[in-house]
Formats: sequence, C-alpha cells, structure tokens
Amino acid sequence: MSKVKVDQDKCIGCGTCIALCSEVFEYADNGKARVVNEKGCGVKCDCQQAVDSCPVGAISTQEK
Ligand code: F3S
Repeated sequence: MSKVKVDQDKCIGCGTCIALCSEVFEYADNGKARVVNEKGCGVKCDCQQAVDSCPVGAISTQEK
C-alpha cells in the first residue's frame, strides 16, 4: 500500500490530479491540490497515473 502526497511548494493548482481522481485529490482553500485520501482510492490507478500526469512533479507516493 502506498501513501500519496502533494508537495504544496511545487503544486501550481493545475487540477489534473483532481480531474483524474477526485476521490483522492481536491482543491484546498489556497487553490492547490490536497490529498483527501492518502491511501489512494484503491480502484483506479494506485495514484501512479496522477504522479505521472502532474506537470510540475508535485505528487509522490511512498511505499509503507
Ligand atoms: Fe497541483 Fe499537480 Fe495536481 S500541479 S493540482 S498536484 S496535477
């Protein structure tokens, strides 16, 4: 099981990750993405697709 994180310093709020998986990512009040389910939604892509899609590389996953 991996744990997903959004680096708030890198995120530019492009929304790609939110469009991809709104069960894991949502907009925070600062207009950037935040993780609402750090274990991932468990059905779509284990967040690797979001990691690969973020244009600024703000998303990372960590094996536990
Ligand atoms: Fe931010 Fe990347 Fe998502 S820029 S909104 S973490 S796709």
